[in-house]
Amino acid sequence: MDQLVFLWMGLIVVAATSFWLWWFWSNHDNNKKKKLHLLHRVPKGNKGWPVLGETIEFIASGYTSQPVSFMEKRRSQYGKVFKTHILGTAIIVSTDAEVNKVVLQNQGNTFIPAYPKSITELLGQNSILQINGAFHKRVHALIGGFLRTPLFKARITQAIHHSVQLNLASWSNMQLLYVQDQAQKITFEVLVKVLMSVGPGEDLNSLKVDFEEFIKGLICLPVKLPGTRLYKSLKAKERLLKIVGRIVEERKAAMENRNNNNNNDDDNKERGVGNDVVDVLLQESYDSDESRRLPLDFITGNIIEMMIPGEETVPMAMTLAVKYLSDNPVVLDHLREENMELKKKKMIDNLGNCTWTDYMESLPFTQNVISETLRIANIINGIWRKAVKDVEIKGYFIPKNWCVLASLISVHMDEENYENPYEFNPWRWEKTGTTVNSNIFTPFGGGQRLCPGLDLSRLELAIFLHQLVTKYRWIAEKDEIVHFPTVKMKRKLPIRVTSIST
Ligand code: HEM
Repeated sequence: MDQLVFLWMGLIVVAATSFWLWWFWSNHDNNKKKKLHLLHRVPKGNKGWPVLGETIEFIASGYTSQPVSFMEKRRSQYGKVFKTHILGTAIIVSTDAEVNKVVLQNQGNTFIPAYPKSITELLGQNSILQINGAFHKRVHALIGGFLRTPLFKARITQAIHHSVQLNLASWSNMQLLYVQDQAQKITFEVLVKVLMSVGPGEDLNSLKVDFEEFIKGLICLPVKLPGTRLYKSLKAKERLLKIVGRIVEERKAAMENRNNNNNNDDDNKERGVGNDVVDVLLQESYDSDESRRLPLDFITGNIIEMMIPGEETVPMAMTLAVKYLSDNPVVLDHLREENMELKKKKMIDNLGNCTWTDYMESLPFTQNVISETLRIANIINGIWRKAVKDVEIKGYFIPKNWCVLASLISVHMDEENYENPYEFNPWRWEKTGTTVNSNIFTPFGGGQRLCPGLDLSRLELAIFLHQLVTKYRWIAEKDEIVHFPTVKMKRKLPIRVTSIST
């Protein structure tokens, strides 16, 4: 009897083991097949050399007058969506406007931002540039909502006007000036005002010095040892956190004081709007229940991180607008005519400074010059994301954990989308207009992370161009645009100006 039981048990063990082995191997085989099948479905392309991939060719194209040539070559070989390996990462590149739109819209939270390691080291974990989901939506809406309020628009228009006027007044004494430096000075003052209402003085100077040191490390080797670029940038960030942290603390104390002492309706309305982004985040924190409060170090860190997308983009757009206008005198004449007309009208009717509506709605050709500058300059030439799950867009398969580069420049410089795409032609916008929802015009990105500084940037550019063309004529010296790692002028665009007597 015992022998029979043993025999049965032995048979069961053998059968179970065989079943398990069969199951393991068939699944292992299936998984292998599945992986191979998935890899087969990844868009075509070349991964280039071991480790380096196709990085050298990618960077080299950034030093030519046609940085999009890297993308164009591969698009003609493999199609509008292809794979490559650049900057240490295997990546799927999309040059297709519709695919880009789906990636940026990010329905179902499939994609998260993907930055090089040096950038993630420098950004806080809670930076608006890195957070996702509902928390990101909340912070994005707060900032975007504030920048759209009529009170903010009125206030910032006058602040920008004042800053541009003051800076341009000093130009008449200069023999030669560098547009890139001058533009950076103006826009930094405006940015710091928008974020934390700091005016000229010691804090502004320290913020400028430390911020410049901080952003030098955004694209560098991710090594944190003393003496390295990343280490110096992290130290600069510590100093920035101290200054901004103090400003936030002071503002919080003042807000609590005001909220405790004064509860009349008018004051509440005033507090509801806030003077700057620090106020908006503090007020949100104050109004929220404890579980939703934004900690002070979150506010401080984000004020610094919000300076990153705003600091280089607007001055480069200003500089490149001057470059394109210098190269296209017919456009410049037309722009000057429109702006002179508005200036005269304001003077004759004694209407004071131009308003937000004047700049944004009464200068259509100026806005077209701005659109054309943004299209052709491609200051942010692409947006990096990482897929958190397998996804298929327009038949293109993007597996989980792969990076995607939505190439904005490829769409802006595509003949299918724009006739003679390399021609600086502001008149093209008269036919089409520019809408935020356009798939083929996305200098400010799109979807969930659409740039909240979009209108502010257009306003700064309009005020700068208005004052520039109504006050000065200029001759630009020869200079070239470099596109890597970010868009810059090789010589910062030197010009000689002469005042226009009106
Ligand atoms: C010509 C000027 C500008 C251009 C071309 C530009 C472009 C962009 C682009 C393409 C994005 C999307 C990034 C992504 O999807 O990952 C973005 C995001 C952002 N921009 Fe701008 N930007 C400009 C000016 C500004 C200014 C002046 C500010 C400051 C108020 C600003 C603040 C931001 C912020 C905070 C984000 C992150 C939004 C989020 O992730 O929710 N930008 N910008």
